[in-house]
Amino acid sequence: MAVLITGGCGYIGSHTVVELKNAGFDIVVLDNFYNSKPEALRRVRELVKGDFPFYECDIRDAEGLRRIFKENSIEVVIHFAGLKAVGESVTIPLEYFENNVGGTVTLCKAMSEAGCKKMVFSSSATVYGMNNPSPLKEDMPVGAVTNPYGRTKYFIEEILGDLCKSDSEWTAVCLRYFNPIGAHQSGTIGEDPNGIPNNLMPYISQVAIGKLDKLPVFGNDYDTHDGTGVRDYIHVVDLALGHLRALEYALEHTGWEAINLGTGTGYSVLDLINAFEKANGVRVPHYFTSRREGDVAVCYSDPSKAERLLGWKAARGIEEMCRDTWRWQSKNPRGYE
Ligand code: NAD
Ligand code: WQD
Repeated sequence: MAVLITGGCGYIGSHTVVELKNAGFDIVVLDNFYNSKPEALRRVRELVKGDFPFYECDIRDAEGLRRIFKENSIEVVIHFAGLKAVGESVTIPLEYFENNVGGTVTLCKAMSEAGCKKMVFSSSATVYGMNNPSPLKEDMPVGAVTNPYGRTKYFIEEILGDLCKSDSEWTAVCLRYFNPIGAHQSGTIGEDPNGIPNNLMPYISQVAIGKLDKLPVFGNDYDTHDGTGVRDYIHVVDLALGHLRALEYALEHTGWEAINLGTGTGYSVLDLINAFEKANGVRVPHYFTSRREGDVAVCYSDPSKAERLLGWKAARGIEEMCRDTWRWQSKNPRGYE
């Protein structure tokens, strides 16, 4: 019995593949390399010192999926594949709906057809939208999202909920990630964004290495301890380990569940810059500029449901997140190129 990992060559997927393989799971990986490189797959194989089936396939390709389910005995799917750039989703919303929502529907149909009815899905804290106060809890209202990307995550959660209601054999565990950062401790796999990074941590590390000049800090007039935005940063390896626990939970339960994966602690942009400089002995020149549209002042999790249901708790602190990011960045100044 194997676990299918869609989007397994991406940032979070690659780290999860390593932890699953190290824990002894049989895995099958699928990716279309839209936002990742074969080199990531090569390095993962090297890290785990073992092989596993890989399919270059798109989740919108029903025939391709059918073949994967036919050739492998898959019991559960961890579904990472999708597009994730918030700004881009405003410009090309249909691509986002087609890939994320359409792709997930095609995947669920292929799963049902093959009798595989368990999914762990990459959702996001973005589903909580603008109106909920932190700490964010799973029973708060969701859906008041500010961009098409967020809407795809909200819609997919709802679709999976309807699917579980329609068929009591289905299980969908929607993991609402907060802000994943960091890299594998080996420094051989990590986050490799295309072009200028949208997210804070890769921007910080590219400034530190001299690839970018200065970090723009979006707003210093928020109602927070230093005026800059506060987020719940979580080490990508902790996040990967959360998937192992969620997988075990999915194998033993049926029905729909949403679970936060965060640390429960918020750090501001300036906190993260300071932590990065201190942990790595580098400078991160920055300047203040206007707020970014759609940003909230504060966003952090109540992580207690994950501990209660999954027995999972983030273990790695901000210093380790900064050190591991820098190891990856300094060993691979040009990412996977
Ligand atoms: P990523 O872009 O690094 O990984 C996604 C992978 O999916 C890539 O390898 C890409 O090539 C692949 N992919 C995309 N569309 C595909 C398709 N149609 N068919 C097959 N493969 C496809 O992103 P990530 O940061 O690893 O995120 C993984 C998941 O977690 C995504 O669904 C993302 O929305 C979600 N998420 C990410 C964050 C974050 O901050 N990184 C936060 C919350 C949720
Ligand atoms: C963090 C903080 C910015 C860049 C996004 C998505 C969310 C989820 C995770 C997928 C904020 C500030 C940032 C910069 C800055 N992804 N910032 N200068 O916006 O919390 O979440 O990624 O689901 O859906 O929206 O993360 O890293 O972009 O920003 O000052 O150059 O850093 O304003 O306060 P965010 P982020």
